[in-house]
Amino acid sequence: MLILGIETSCDETAAAVVRDGREILSNVVVSQIDIFAEYGGVIPEVAARSHLEAMMPVVEKALRDAEVGWDEIDAIAVTHAPGLLGSLLVGTLTARTLAILHDKPLYAVHHLKSHVYANWIISPERAAVGSQSPSMPSFPLLALVVSGGHTQILYMREHNQFEIVGTTHDDAVGECFDKVAKILGLPYPGGPSIARAAAHGDASRYTLPHPKVAGLDFSFSGLKTAVLRAVQKELGVPISYPSHKLAELLTPNQVADFAASFQRTAVDILCEKIAAAMEQYPDVQSVVVAGGVSANSALREALPEAYFPTPALSGDNGAMVAAAAYYEILSGREPTDPYSLNIYPRVSVESEG
Ligand code: KG4
Ligand code: ZN
Repeated sequence: MLILGIETSCDETAAAVVRDGREILSNVVVSQIDIFAEYGGVIPEVAARSHLEAMMPVVEKALRDAEVGWDEIDAIAVTHAPGLLGSLLVGTLTARTLAILHDKPLYAVHHLKSHVYANWIISPERAAVGSQSPSMPSFPLLALVVSGGHTQILYMREHNQFEIVGTTHDDAVGECFDKVAKILGLPYPGGPSIARAAAHGDASRYTLPHPKVAGLDFSFSGLKTAVLRAVQKELGVPISYPSHKLAELLTPNQVADFAASFQRTAVDILCEKIAAAMEQYPDVQSVVVAGGVSANSALREALPEAYFPTPALSGDNGAMVAAAAYYEILSGREPTDPYSLNIYPRVSVESEG
């Protein structure tokens, strides 16, 4: 079964063709990073406008790269929740129109679900191992979802069954990377910038506190403030000193050491919670990590037994949307009505049908 997956929930315009939820025939991602690096963050109206320009060329390229015509596409899948309202609208309206025009069944997919299903896609590395059937996560499993908007631990008893067993009380971990990068004067998006700076930093130079949050929940806003206070202390300036002026006072060594110390702390916090979750759910067979922060190599090294998407599929892409839809179809999900499909900018993965 060939599924065309479309994703526009934030600042990537993406489309992909995937066979049977696992094999990528094409995967086209147009990122707006260059635009938003200048502003230091995403501006929703600009993102929506850029999606509008890129959307159809991206879909056409996905079909061209896959060397398939519309007659060979079996279904269309699109992210309809959660995300930026204007961005979600562009992807869903495009998918609805294409589904009507080409008479294809349409499936609406939750963004976190699709991040999780990136772990079922055969990566070039896994395929290269040469085994007949590259290994797949087994159920029940725990999914650590770490993105710019979410930090959650999900328990999955089976395909398409999501129970949120831990969530952040405030900022998401990716958001925390982005905010700490701003304090350190590193460019947007903060995650990759921090990771690069941390590569030649000393992670033990600054001690940052772990938040005291009960159970499997997270909190990351205190960690961001702890970095801010540590920077102010290091520079000997008062806490009233404007935070956007701190970076110009830092030496490259201090920036690298702060980046490394912060990254170490964030990764340790995630690992502690996953260890606690595994103790609480002793029946789990696999741990999968998903979302933009799963590209982080320190996190990958810290969780050697966990499944990670191939780095190109860690961030937003259309292939994971097609993969998630495939497993929904296998579970008997009926297609959605292309004339009435709605968007849900804030709905959780648990309450979504
Ligand atoms: O999943 P994603 O692409 O978009 C959302 O659904 O939010 O995640 C984006 C987040 C951003 O906060 C970005 O800074 C972070 O993922 N990120 C990283 C890395 N690459 C992207 N964080 C840490 N290390 C990375 N290498
Ligand atoms: Zn995402």
